[in-house]
Amino acid sequence: MKITEYAKHLLLAPNLEDKLLPPPKQWIDDSDQKSIRIETPGRNHKLQFSDKKIKIPRLEHLNLESNRGLTLHHFANHELMAIELFAWAILAFPDAQKSVRNGWVKTIEEEQTHFKMYLNRMSEFGIQFGDIPLNYIFWKQLDQFQSVESFSAVMSLSFEGANLDYSQVYAKVFSYFGDEKTSEIMIYIFEDEIKHVKRGVRAFEKSIPSEKNSWEHYLSLIQFPFTPRRAKGYLFFPETRYLAGLDANFVKQLAEYEDEYTGRVNLESVKKFGLGSELMRKKQA
Ligand SMILES: [Fe+2]
Ligand SMILES: [Fe+2]
Repeated sequence: MKITEYAKHLLLAPNLEDKLLPPPKQWIDDSDQKSIRIETPGRNHKLQFSDKKIKIPRLEHLNLESNRGLTLHHFANHELMAIELFAWAILAFPDAQKSVRNGWVKTIEEEQTHFKMYLNRMSEFGIQFGDIPLNYIFWKQLDQFQSVESFSAVMSLSFEGANLDYSQVYAKVFSYFGDEKTSEIMIYIFEDEIKHVKRGVRAFEKSIPSEKNSWEHYLSLIQFPFTPRRAKGYLFFPETRYLAGLDANFVKQLAEYEDEYTGRVNLESVKKFGLGSELMRKKQA
């Protein structure tokens, strides 16, 4: 199977089953094709984008299963967009290095696994995918995706990077409420997302000009109103970025970055969870 055919299927076919079709075991990278920029994914009526603002449940309300389910729904939506947008990149950037393109295929497969893990767990909490409106925050960044580097800066260094913080926060909070099963899902996904950010770092770092450092280069690739705030959670776990291969200056600059949104989250309310800087990792078998 040609990889562009597979990518088109994920993007344009309307149903969830289509989006979850795993990559073919053997595929041909027909990357001599022209760049194709698909503006919107195919989605059936249950999967439509919505502009309704839906707040993610507060951490202190995650004692309730229904709130845990709604939280996982939020995360599953991110996974679905990631599946589509890595397929999008395969079509949009035929000239990307082979290793980068292979990485996108691998990432798609892992995002599909994450999606299914969330889906199964939230259905145990009585929530089905599509029960609440689906935002399209990743798809809104399409204009920024002008190159492999800017795509990697936004998708991997920013969104997937922030997910490293959030998966740690939620692993800890689910565990605090005695839900080890959901906590372990977060840790499983955290470990995969380290690899995803690392893939993004590799795709991005080749293009750093000699007169710039990686942070300056990152800033040159993202466009306002998208800011580095998107690249971290309201709690920041610097160690996770080292695991993903980012350099010390980048991590320091990201840690120090502030804008007008900084401080809007009431951190007092999360203190009781004892969210220290120590990471939760997969237990070694
Ligand atoms: Fe994921
Ligand atoms: Fe990812």
